[in-house]
Amino acid sequence: MKGIILAGGAGSRLYPLTQVASKQLQPVYDKPMVYYPLTTLIENGVRELCLISTPHDLPRYRQLLGDGAAWGLSIDYREQPRPGGIAQAFLIADSFIGDSPVVLILGDNIFYGGSEFRQAFADFRKGACIFGCHVHDPERYGVVEFDADGHAISIEEKPRQPKSNYAVPGLYLYDNHVVAVAKALKPSARGELEITDVNVEYLNRGQLRVYRLSRGFAWLDAGTSSSLHEASAFVQTIEKRQGIKIGCPEEAAFLRGFLSLDHLAALTPRMPNCEYREYLNDVVAEARRLAEGR
Ligand code: DAU
Repeated sequence: MKGIILAGGAGSRLYPLTQVASKQLQPVYDKPMVYYPLTTLIENGVRELCLISTPHDLPRYRQLLGDGAAWGLSIDYREQPRPGGIAQAFLIADSFIGDSPVVLILGDNIFYGGSEFRQAFADFRKGACIFGCHVHDPERYGVVEFDADGHAISIEEKPRQPKSNYAVPGLYLYDNHVVAVAKALKPSARGELEITDVNVEYLNRGQLRVYRLSRGFAWLDAGTSSSLHEASAFVQTIEKRQGIKIGCPEEAAFLRGFLSLDHLAALTPRMPNCEYREYLNDVVAEARRLAEGR
């Protein structure tokens, strides 16, 4: 499965921070925001990636992530000159997608915990697969309604009167038909190609699967100053308590088998002396210890 990270948009809600760096490059505690969705894709076995952002911001992403080879990935880049909607990603990345299924993740969505993603990626064959996450303010999101048997029966984008508390987070799996579905979309009242319209189309075809995320799952979006701060606090709390990092692509690539232990070990001498480097050195030392049965 190929993966798209959508990291464009004006980031106007984070002004003046976004005067100097795009939203998805802002720090979430100890890493750039985009590391988190990137890590989510790596953890789920996606290594062929395409990052979409504005012509202005793309050079910074290239500088940060390169072609991905150092992490056992391949990363392509595509421009979105104007924010024409999340579903526009499938038109922009058409040649990257080719004839593969594709997962799209929003560059400002942070996920932690739970086993539903792993399950969904493993089970995915065709159609579309999205998630429903219980929130207190569903009117800010796409909202999915379930019947008594737990089947999705409607999805609405930012409804005034939500039919449930289940918001649709920014991670979506599709078969290759999604490109044709996106090509047939008409812009919404706000002038965007809506991802919710893609999901409604799959729902109408009877090809949409919706997993409800369990209580142990954390979904944070970091699109406003407050939510950015809360996301940082959350990551700091978990990392300090557990001594493991959230959103560490190098570690995820190693655990997923995209990087050998020797390749992982070769990354840190190139880093400045910092806490992130120490952490990766600890990961290497622990893996060596386990491998040697000590
Ligand atoms: O966060 C999940 C929600 O994301 C979903 O529940 C909604 O159904 C979906 O429409 C979307 O809602 P938002 O109002 O949060 O979308 P927003 O316009 O803020 O865009 C989300 C991210 O995608 C943001 O980081 C910017 C990026 N983006 C967005 C658009 C519209 C782009 O890169 N290009 C775009 O054209």
